[in-house]
Parts: sequence; C-alpha cells; structure tokens
Amino acid sequence: MRLSKQLPTISYISLLALSFSFYTIITPISSISLQDVFINCLHRNTNVDFPLEKTFFSPAKNVSMFNKVLDSTAQNLRFLTKSMPKPGFIFTPVHESHVQASIICSKKLRIHLRFRSGGHDYEGLSYVSEIKKPFILMDLSKLRQINVNIIYNNAWVQAGATVGELYYRIAEKSNVHGFPAGLCSSLGIGGHITGGAYGSMMRKYGLGGDNVVDAKIVDANGKLLDRATMGEDMFWAIRGGGGASFGVILAWKIKLVPVPNTVTVFTVTKTLEQDAARVLLKWQEVADKLVEELFIRVIFNVAAGSNGNKTVTTSYNALFLGDKHALMEVMKKDFQELGLTPRDCVEMSWLESIVYISGFPGNTPTSVLLQGKSPFPKINFKAKSDFVKKTIPESGLTGMFKKLLTEDSPAMIWNPYGGMMAEISETQIPFPHRKGVIFKIQYLTAWPDSDKRPNRHVKWIRELYSYMTPYVSNNPRQAYVNYRDLDLGKNKKNAKKSFKKAQVWGAKYFKGNFNRLVKIKSKFDPENFFRHEQSIPTLPVQS
Ligand SMILES: Cc1cc2nc3c(=O)[nH]c(=O)nc-3n(C[C@H](O)[C@H](O)[C@H](O)COP(=O)(O)OP(=O)(O)OC[C@H]3O[C@@H](n4cnc5c(N)ncnc54)[C@H](O)[C@@H]3O)c2cc1C
Ligand SMILES: *[C@@H]1O[C@H](CO)[C@@H](O)[C@H](O)[C@H]1NC(C)=O
Ligand SMILES: *[C@@H]1O[C@H](CO)[C@@H](O)[C@H](O)[C@H]1NC(C)=O
Repeated sequence: MRLSKQLPTISYISLLALSFSFYTIITPISSISLQDVFINCLHRNTNVDFPLEKTFFSPAKNVSMFNKVLDSTAQNLRFLTKSMPKPGFIFTPVHESHVQASIICSKKLRIHLRFRSGGHDYEGLSYVSEIKKPFILMDLSKLRQINVNIIYNNAWVQAGATVGELYYRIAEKSNVHGFPAGLCSSLGIGGHITGGAYGSMMRKYGLGGDNVVDAKIVDANGKLLDRATMGEDMFWAIRGGGGASFGVILAWKIKLVPVPNTVTVFTVTKTLEQDAARVLLKWQEVADKLVEELFIRVIFNVAAGSNGNKTVTTSYNALFLGDKHALMEVMKKDFQELGLTPRDCVEMSWLESIVYISGFPGNTPTSVLLQGKSPFPKINFKAKSDFVKKTIPESGLTGMFKKLLTEDSPAMIWNPYGGMMAEISETQIPFPHRKGVIFKIQYLTAWPDSDKRPNRHVKWIRELYSYMTPYVSNNPRQAYVNYRDLDLGKNKKNAKKSFKKAQVWGAKYFKGNFNRLVKIKSKFDPENFFRHEQSIPTLPVQS
C-alpha cells in the first residue's frame, strides 16, 4: 500500500461540501486526498504499476498540465469554459487491468466516473458531468494499440486509437483493405462505434458497428469480458446502444472490407445563384438509389456571394469506389444535373481519400492521420439531427435557405442512405435508421469564444429544427445517438420523471430497440453504475 503524499489534491472537506452522501460512506481523513485514496485502492486491485507523474493529473498539482490533458481531445469548446464542472482529477490508464481497477475503486469509493476515448461527444458527456459531483475522468488515450491481421481479415483496435490511425495501420499492410467507419480522422474508435459509426463506405458496407466481430469490455463489476463471456445480448447492446451505458470498451475486433486500389473523389459547389435548389431536388431523388459504390453527401454553408450579398453554398462531396471513367458513366446516367466533369474528379488511394474527405488541404501526407488531429480549429458548437423519408419540396428548401442566411456560421450535412443501409434489419444492432431513410440531416452552428451572446445560436438551431418538422421523420422523429442532443425529451411534460424523458429520446435514437436496451441494462448494471445525462436507464421500480 502506497500513499502519494506528494500529490495533494482536492481535500476531502471541499468534496464533502459538494456531496454529503459521500461523507456517509467514507470516514474523512483530512490530510489524504480523494486522489490518494483512489490510488491506494488501484494498487490493491492491479499488479501492473502506473507511474504517477504520467498517469494522474490534478488541478492542485499543476493546473496548467491538468487543463492541457483535460482539453487535449475535447472537441466542443462549449464544455471547456470556466463555469463547466471539472473532474477532481484525471487518470490515464496504461494497462487494461487499470481500467478494471478503476471501475472497482470508483464503485467502492462511490466516485462518479466519466470516461473518454476520442473526446468527440457533442454534449461533452465524456468529460463533464452536470448530474453528479464530484466526478473523475478516466482518459483512455494511452490505450491505443492496433493489430491488423490481413490473413484473417480483421483487426483488434484499442479504444483510445483514432479512426485515422486505424485506417493508416490497415493501409500500411494492404492497399485493398479498409474499414467503413467515420469520416473525421480524429474520432476515438472507443466511443465512435458505441453509437453505430457511419462513413463514406456506409452505402456499400453499412456502419462500423455492423462490422464488429468481437469486443473486450469491462463491466460494472470490473470484470473483463469478451463476446463469448458477455453473451449475445450485451454484445448486441454495445454496438450502437450509445456510449458509457453498459461498460468500458477496451478494444473492438473489427472485420476488414475490400477497397479498390484506386478510388475517385470530387467536391462540386453550387450557390443559390447557381441553381442550388434544382440540383438539390434531383439529389434527393437519386442519393439513396445510386450504385452502392458511390457516396455523395451535401455540405451546406453560408458565404459571401458574387453580388456581395450572403449566399448558401451546397457542396457535393463524394467518394466513389472505382476509377474516374466508371464514375463519369454513373453520373451521366443518374445525376447529370450536377454537371460533373472529369476535371472535377481526382483518383487516389483509399487512404488518401480519407485525408481528403476528412477536410485536410490537398497534398497533405497520409501520415497526418497518425497525429490524431482534426483539420479544423476547435469551436463552440451545437448540433441536431434528423432523418428524411420523403423528398423535401422546393417550398421547404426555400424557407430552409432563408433560415440559414440569418445565422453567423451555420452548416448542414446531408448524408445519403440506401444500399447496404437499407438491407440490414432495424434490430440487427441497436442503430435502427435503415430501410426507408433517404438521407440524414445534421444541423450545426458554431461560434467563437469571443461571442457575447452564445445562447442566440442555440436558439437559432432550435428554430431551424422546428421549421423542419413537416419535412422529416415523425413518430418518432428519429435522431442519431452519436450526435448526442440533450434537448431531446426536455419538453416532455412531467420530464422530472426521468424514465419518461428517457423514453422520448430513447425512441428517437433507437426506436423499438430502446426497450431491449433497457432490459439488458437492468440485467447487467442494475445499480446503474454507468450513467450520464442520457445513459440507458434501468427499468423503473414499480410503485
Ligand atoms: C468533428 C466530428 C466529426 C464527427 N464525424 C462523425 C462521422 O463521420 N461519423 C459518425 O458516425 N460520427 C461522427 N461524429 C460523432 C462521433 O461518432 C461521436 O461523437 C462519438 O461518440 C465519438 O467517440 P469518441 O470516442 O471520439 O468520443 P468520447 O467523447 O470520448 O465518447 C463519446 C461517448 O462514448 C463514451 N465512451 C467513450 N469511450 C468509451 C469506451 N471506451 N467504452 C464505452 N463508452 C465510451 C463516452 O463516455 C461518451 O459518452 C463526429 C463528431 C465530431 C465532433
Ligand atoms: C506544469 O505543467 C506545465 C505543462 O503544462 C509545465 O511546463 C510546467 O513545468 C509544470 N510545472 C510544474 C511545477 O511541474
Ligand atoms: C442583396 O440583398 C438585398 C436584400 O435582400 C436585395 O434587396 C438586393 O437586391 C440584393 N443585391 C443583389 C445584387 O442581389
């Protein structure tokens, strides 16, 4: 047993002020910090050493280092402001047994635990708790091994690895293997796959979650389980049921998919003055029906137009699993209205297309994917999502364009469905948005730290969401759990009853799968150890 006296952290007393119930569990020893108690407990529960100066970060020891680690992968600046609750300390495990010990110790000491893989959570849930204080953060970024096995056509990827690193490690071993997960290279594979994980090959191969064959997790008792020992219910729940509800994913075993030696990409932009609406009407008709090898998404922004007035830009950003010639044939036949020319098309390797679609400037070397960085500066943002099942008429588009023009930095991304997405059943994994979906909408708005009235942006996006109501899925109005949105369920009358509220967002994210998720949660984590603002609830006790 070791006491690390050199690490004075938050005193028990200050913690007690925040959490009376904590006091009743543990006798306070005023000179010992919570962190020290936790460290002692870890030592009793793992045989593998962890160098304290490299694995524990507390504001009392070195606040600048603490902030550096806290901010490192956090993507949404909105949750890094001074007023946001901060973890008491951060622990970065360097061995899988440390994760097990952390669960055991958090449970024993009744310390609320958040954990983070890539830090991309839209509502900051992986590093901010607004429901339970104090809390601590376990950051999995040092568990990022990737073992690609081309002969067996699979790979084991630890939770802290980014998708960019994974793609790079696959391509290092083969030019004709890939994996169909997210478009943004800095996503953490740990959290990403827990919500489904879509990318530019989804129309051909489905989601990342559809291509998982095994997983290693730590459950609420600190037990390490794989597919065989966790059982098929739990294995189903973790592939799309949302992050941090069932356990900590240590690693995913994924199935690789074939990619051609040469793929083709393009980005073609139309402004309102260039007939954006007409092309968009046509895109809605074909987007989900094109060959599965072709993925064309539409990115909307607002920019200065040629006449000096603001305009909406619609950028058709595409990946085609084939060469330029074959792509031109498809476009000539099915989507001439875009006016694609061979000059717009660039042939490259699949790995290079990842760098391109991620948004890095042209000619950025693929090794950038090993840096775990996004090409864009971090911003404050709020986002929402919708699924569309019938084409939005021109009148609907007109009002939507108008609304976009009233905001400072709005964006939308429309993502085509169809192909393999329509072939996989709604209950195969918890992600239910399959047959019948033409495309998904993501709404975004961003603002700088210097903005004095950030709330007006949140208000704006809620208004846009409300405007879109008649044009999108309803009953339930579906949403993507990886685009976590804490607005959902909020308006429900009687929202104090948290299970009722959960049923609202639960239906949106998971449709009928929500009920099965609740049953699995109740069985494997009856004490609701893994919880956050939108974690899967246990069944309410009948009164
Ligand atoms: C810039 C950007 C681009 C994006 N692009 C895409 C995209 O192309 N496709 C797509 O599908 N999604 C995309 N997303 C959404 C993304 O998939 C989700 O935010 C996802 O949850 C991120 O995982 P993470 O590990 O990076 O995030 P984190 O913030 O670390 O985790 C997200 C959630 O999962 C939990 N969690 C983290 N690690 C684990 C673990 N090891 N085990 C269990 N639970 C865990 C966290 O506690 C949290 O609740 C994007 C998000 C951003 C910010
Ligand atoms: C605190 O951390 C910073 C890095 O963020 C480092 O430069 C500095 O030397 C550290 N200070 C002490 C006292 O260790
Ligand atoms: C710019 O927008 C204003 C207001 O909508 C409009 O009156 C004007 O005609 C526009 N200018 C041009 C050159 O289109």
